[in-house]
This record gives sequence, C-alpha cells and structure tokens, in this order.
Amino acid sequence: MRACRRLGFMRRRCRFGLRCQRWKPTTPRNGVCVRTVTASRYVTSLREGGSLPAIVEADDDGLYVLKFKGAGQGPKALIAELVAGEIGRLAGLPVPEIVFIDLPVDLARTEPDAEIQALIGGSGGLNLALDYLPGSITFDPLIYSPDEQLASAIVWFDAFVCNVDRTVRNANMLMWHRRLWLIDHGAALYFHHAWNRHDDHAMSPFKLIKDHVLLRFAGALREIDSEMKSDDPGFDGKAGQRKAYLNFFELRLRSSDAFVEEAIRARAAYL
Ligand SMILES: Nc1ncnc2c1ncn2[C@@H]1O[C@H](COP(=O)(O)OP(=O)(O)OP(=O)(O)O)[C@@H](O)[C@H]1O
Ligand SMILES: [Mg+2]
Repeated sequence: MRACRRLGFMRRRCRFGLRCQRWKPTTPRNGVCVRTVTASRYVTSLREGGSLPAIVEADDDGLYVLKFKGAGQGPKALIAELVAGEIGRLAGLPVPEIVFIDLPVDLARTEPDAEIQALIGGSGGLNLALDYLPGSITFDPLIYSPDEQLASAIVWFDAFVCNVDRTVRNANMLMWHRRLWLIDHGAALYFHHAWNRHDDHAMSPFKLIKDHVLLRFAGALREIDSEMKSDDPGFDGKAGQRKAYLNFFELRLRSSDAFVEEAIRARAAYL
C-alpha cells in the first residue's frame, strides 16, 4: 500500500459486489492524488500490448507497467489513460494506481530489441505507469461471471468515458487475487482527436457499447446510472460536500488545542 493511498483514500466495502476495497477519494485538488516516481531499472517489455509497454522498477521499489509517450498511439493515449483511469477510480472501480514516471533514456541499454530501444530513447522524461499486478491473468468471461452491479458499473463507466477497448477480443481487464481490475484506458476519450465536434460526442449514445465484453452481465444499468449521479444526502451537490470537508478541517485546525490537550491528558494517565 502506498503512502498517498493510505493518506488520501478511505476503505469501504465495494458496492459493486466485489470482495474488495472501494477507494473513496478525499484528497484536496479535486480528490485526485497522482504520485511521481523515477524509473530505476528496466525489467522487460510486454510485447502483447500494441503500444509495447514495459515492466520497470522505480525508485520507490515498486514495479510498474510503463506506457511510453513515444509509442505509436501518441501522447493523447496517455492523457486518456490518466483521465479515464482516475475517473474510474473516483467512481469506485478497481483501477491499479496510476503514477507519473520519469524515464532516464539510458535505461534502455539492456534491451536488445532495436524497436524497443528506439521507443525508450524517444520517451525520455515524464511518462505514465500503472502499478504492476504480478501473476494477474487476462479476464475471460467464460471462466468468470462478474456481479451484475459491477458489470453494470463498468459498462456505464466505459460508455461515460467513450472507451472502445473493452471487447471480447481485447477485454483489457485482469484477474488478480480473484478480483477484477480495469487496465488500458488509452483508447477512451476518442473525441479528443477531433475537438471541433465535442458537444456531439458529449451527447452521443455511444453505439460502440454493443461490443462491450460485459454488456450481457450488465442488468442494473438504470440503477447504476442514478447511483453514479447521486450525492451524499444532506449536501447541496458535490460542491457542497467538498466545502463541508474543507470547513471541517479548517475549523479542526483552528481548534487543535482541544485535541492536543486531550491527547496530553490521556498520555499522562499512562505515565
Ligand atoms: N497493471 C498491470 N499489471 C499486470 N499486467 C499488466 C498491467 N497492465 C498491462 N498488463 C499486461 O500488459 C498487456 C498490455 O497492456 P495494455 O493493454 O495496457 O497495453 P496496450 O499497448 O495499450 O495494449 P493494446 O494492445 O490493448 O492496445 C495487458 O494485456 C496485460 O497482459
Ligand atoms: Mg490492452
């Protein structure tokens, strides 16, 4: 578990039927906390991915799947990966942690493949990476049937972010520790390749949802739709919720004498 997760998110039971934790963002800066690490060791290339991502180790000792900004899909694939991935996380879906990763170009020196050498050489500086899930296997709908709530939430999310890349041919989901994880959002937000018509895209029904690998499991779409749009009762919208957190901590800081004195008093009882 990484520090910013520990500090920035609280654990909850998953409402989508997974035996998992649901991350509820509570950090400032719109609730998103993206760390920056530096790649320190090149491990191997994941040749099954069209963009040739690589497993690397970083200076926090973690292993990551690095998505190169110099890959053929272009830097917008990384923008989609980050924006859609973090929206998924905010919606409570299981997405591996996403980090910014600084890539020194000399990391490529142990890679014998000239194409991958060139890819790393052309991607020096800041890139994006996902927490590596070791031992994970590709999701297979014939082996694992996801819960109706979870499947509906994933279908809703992919339609929301216009992700065309969650099909039977390429599910872009992994099973890890008997839980399902969403990866590869580089093909989401496809409207950002043609901003001139973005209003049309925002209102589009997203017909490509017909190819979604989980569509047949997604029997609770209306229910999920209203859940995704709902706010905590008692608050005037999401802005009201954010303000309530801020007010709480501002007042708490001003009143710190109260809890510091209480801690000192309680500590004295032990001495
Ligand atoms: N976080 C991860 N943990 C473990 N394995 C991963 C992770 N992310 C990706 N992989 C593995 O690497 C493969 C390629 O990753 P990904 O789908 O993100 O790359 P891509 O180049 O965008 O692929 P595509 O060919 O689907 O466009 C995945 O199918 C999976 O096997
Ligand atoms: Mg993929």
